[in-house]
Amino acid sequence: MSYISDKSVQQIYDTIKVEEVVGDFVHLKRRGINHIGLCPFHHEKTPSFNVSAVKGIFKCFGCGEGGDAVQFVMKIENLSYPESLRWLAKKYNIQLEEIAPSAEAMEKQQAADSLYIVNAFAQEYFLAQLFDTDYGRSIGLQYFKERGLREETIRRFGLGYSNGINSDLVQTATGKGYKLEIMQSAGLASTAGKDFFRQRVMFPIHNLSGKVLGFGGRTLSSDKKTPKYLNTPESEIYHKSKILYGISQAKKAILQENMCYMVEGYMDVITLSQAGIENVVASSGTSLTVGQIQLVKRFSPNITILYDGDAAGIKAALRGLELVLEQDMNVKVLLIPNGEDPDSYLQKVGVSAFREFLQKEAVDFILFKTRLLLKDAKDDPMKRAELIKDLVESIAHIPETLKRSVYVKQCSELMDIGEQILHNEINKRIAARLKKNLETESKNEQLDNDLPAPIEPGLDETFSIPEKRRGHEFLEKDIARILIMFGNRELAPKETVAEYILINMSELIDEFDSPLFAELVEICIETLSAGKELKSEIFIQHKNPKISELAVNVISTPYEYSANWEKLNVFLSSQKMPEENHVADAKSGILRFKLRKIERLMEKNQQEIKKIQEASGEIEDLIKLIKVQQKLINMRGEIAREQNIVVLK
Ligand code: UTP
Ligand code: MN
Repeated sequence: MSYISDKSVQQIYDTIKVEEVVGDFVHLKRRGINHIGLCPFHHEKTPSFNVSAVKGIFKCFGCGEGGDAVQFVMKIENLSYPESLRWLAKKYNIQLEEIAPSAEAMEKQQAADSLYIVNAFAQEYFLAQLFDTDYGRSIGLQYFKERGLREETIRRFGLGYSNGINSDLVQTATGKGYKLEIMQSAGLASTAGKDFFRQRVMFPIHNLSGKVLGFGGRTLSSDKKTPKYLNTPESEIYHKSKILYGISQAKKAILQENMCYMVEGYMDVITLSQAGIENVVASSGTSLTVGQIQLVKRFSPNITILYDGDAAGIKAALRGLELVLEQDMNVKVLLIPNGEDPDSYLQKVGVSAFREFLQKEAVDFILFKTRLLLKDAKDDPMKRAELIKDLVESIAHIPETLKRSVYVKQCSELMDIGEQILHNEINKRIAARLKKNLETESKNEQLDNDLPAPIEPGLDETFSIPEKRRGHEFLEKDIARILIMFGNRELAPKETVAEYILINMSELIDEFDSPLFAELVEICIETLSAGKELKSEIFIQHKNPKISELAVNVISTPYEYSANWEKLNVFLSSQKMPEENHVADAKSGILRFKLRKIERLMEKNQQEIKKIQEASGEIEDLIKLIKVQQKLINMRGEIAREQNIVVLK
């Protein structure tokens, strides 16, 4: 392992273009100087996903996702930061300069590496034992063949045999220079220095990229006292809760089929895979963990849980369900009948019957749970009520509204209970969760809320604007003034004042009170998009007489609005020579403008929230509004803070 040098990182950042990177995943359209498209991170019909080439960022005003190109790749490709950098380097053909890691990191990595290395050796050894020794062939290979495995399958999964004679593995490995210590850390040798796996057929367990993390070893003895399987104990690299047996061999098929079968046992994976059902992994006898589900989610959102139909299998399936649902995955369940497991059932009925069984019998989880529990709840009203509570609990874990209501409908039919009642019950649970979340979140927001409220501008009474709207027109006019008079000036290298204003206001363009200013902004966007300079003449000579009037007006009376600012004693220094201060003007103008808009949105939003609460309306709407409110509060805090800095200057 090595690191990407700072220089290379810089080179990546200098080269990448956010609109190109995003454009690989999202159909982008130009809108002014920004690009817009349908957000890839949430479902939407009208685009609220903005990309600013100038700023190098993306932002969705629908779901709030945002960041730069590197963060975009991390999110959309589900990569870590360095992985994302490497991804981008590949896209742009950037040769990366790799540097060695720190001594400490190196040591840790070496420790992990040495475990991988010794595991790889052990795997080769077990495989050789299986194929190249008499006892291996007659005991181990014979066993696998009896269970229907072909040689190519055995090799594909790297299966093996441990003879356990006089700690042969430890002897062989140490003889070749592998350290006993490391074999112990890898779980291959006991603390006493003996072979950990003895007289077992061996199943190496791989990580995503195919490195051996550990082993499962199945006994061939029928002695009830020996555990059927021995697994590698937790180690530096073997973390049971994050392991999915077979993921390395299955990942391609999961991606292609856009579905993953989840079984319980090693042999289930191997047998199904051999039969051509390659999109299969095993939780290896543990109940499903979030880590395991997220591993699957990298390749597909669809899981079918394929467990034994016995009590333990059913219980395990049910436990897995909620977890899968919470990760916003689609889940189906299928129980194997008659005490069989997927492996034995496939061997029994044959591949085509088995495939048909998979096709026909996979049921949606809600149906599964209902059918199952309804059996013994049939005539018992108490049990029925319990079952309904149970179902409601499951459905409440589904993050997506639409999906939820489909389940409510199903559940309502199956249980013969009104949809509304179910909805109410579910909403109660969601609301309780949401409230808990908000409480913790709002604790973090205290600081922002404590910031002093911004000063209300002392307004020119001559504006005939409705009470509520006052303040905005004034700010809009000031922004118009800056756009018309200074729009063309450079604010930063490669960024004009107008560009700065427009990018920073893109989310507020629809919020203009004055249609005239809205039009002015549109003109600016059109002009800039056409690659033309934004000269005052464009406005003065505009075909809409109102625009030209406005332009002439602001140009001939540049101090009119500044006077108001002066009154506020805020922009005192910047107003002396307004022409020289267009930078500060543009910045503070936008901030004030945004602040007002945000406050108004908050007010509107608050009213909406109240309305819904009073009418006990859709919880989903309420959640959305509360989230919006939270976001607005954050934005306000940010602006107030930024503005203080401007004010102090
Ligand atoms: P099963 O007991 O169902 O075994 O355990 P199996 O996979 O069907 O194995 P065969 O067909 O009898 O050879 C399911 C899984 O649970 C884990 C293993 O991963 C196994 O594949 N397990 C089971 C253990 O880890 N230890 C055990 O003692 C038993
Ligand atoms: Mn089995």
